[in-house]
Amino acid sequence: MFKELANKLRKDTFLSREEYKILIENRDKCADYLFENARQVRDSVYGRKVYIRGLIEISNNCRNDCYYCGIRRSNSNAARYRLYENDIMQCVKKGYELGFRTFVLQGGEDAYYTDDTLCGIIGRIKAECPECAVTLSLGERSYDSYKRLKSAGADRYLLRHETANREHYGKLHPPEMSYNNRVRCLENLKSCGYQTGAGFMVGSPYQTADDLAGEFEFLKKIQPEMVGIGPFVPHRDTPFRDFPGGSAELTLFMLALVRLTLPHVLLPATTALATVDGKGHENGMNAGANVIMPNLTPKGERKKYALYNNKASTGAESAEGIALLKEQMSRAGYTVVSDRGDYIP
Ligand code: 5AD
Repeated sequence: MFKELANKLRKDTFLSREEYKILIENRDKCADYLFENARQVRDSVYGRKVYIRGLIEISNNCRNDCYYCGIRRSNSNAARYRLYENDIMQCVKKGYELGFRTFVLQGGEDAYYTDDTLCGIIGRIKAECPECAVTLSLGERSYDSYKRLKSAGADRYLLRHETANREHYGKLHPPEMSYNNRVRCLENLKSCGYQTGAGFMVGSPYQTADDLAGEFEFLKKIQPEMVGIGPFVPHRDTPFRDFPGGSAELTLFMLALVRLTLPHVLLPATTALATVDGKGHENGMNAGANVIMPNLTPKGERKKYALYNNKASTGAESAEGIALLKEQMSRAGYTVVSDRGDYIP
């Protein structure tokens, strides 16, 4: 029966919410079969290539106060930092030499980065590395801001919705944050022409199997080009410090379901997954992922970008560790490529 559901998903790329829920609740009986199908679908669109993105964590200053996040504004234990244009250009130069052709500028919602400032930085990256893609991951901004950053040369934007369930969203965020605005931002990003990344945490506090099943309805509606999924990992200086973390096992299953629902999606094996599972990269690829985002943030700042405790930032998780990552991937039957790695429609 689970095999039939998996076959139906492979064929139709969509199940009812109830059917997704049944698969999720019975995943011990069908995970391997689903992973096999997810790999086949991934291979048919992208082959066995692994796209790499150089992640530059430009600031851990954040105006928001999300209950799960270690860089929330009320965490007075966080040592704050910010990278300026020249710091960022040094990361880009180093990443370029290591073979990166996509750079992801990610940060908290830091008012320092006005549109003018960001347009200057994006323009410089594009002038110095015209064949590189620029991805932004800087939170909620206005339509006009997204538009201007796109005109300045930004190609992609990552903005996780964190959960597709409005009530659940309300339990993860303070009252001043709005589910509606998050969704509106994703729609605005799409209409500005970005390759747009949505995404959610697995195993976050109060999440149910029905919430997870609801993710697929949401993704079908938004049609993102990228989906970032990682397990919730508690951070000691947040209100969620005592909640259990999400499991690698459930995260991998969700990756496979996303691959089968959105066959062309760019799907990373995330740092959070690699943090809770020492084989997270390989296991992620074997569940249908095709992207890895090694860390290019200067070493001195890296540990300060602590969204959660014990975040992996060395070895194959770091840009310097690219040789190790290539070796791990090739042992698992994949090839790390030096390529922009655009969405294939
Ligand atoms: N555990 C896992 N992921 C987290 N993020 C933030 N805090 C945590 C945490 N405690 C994720 C969010 C955010 C992304 C940048 O990091 O999903 O969108």
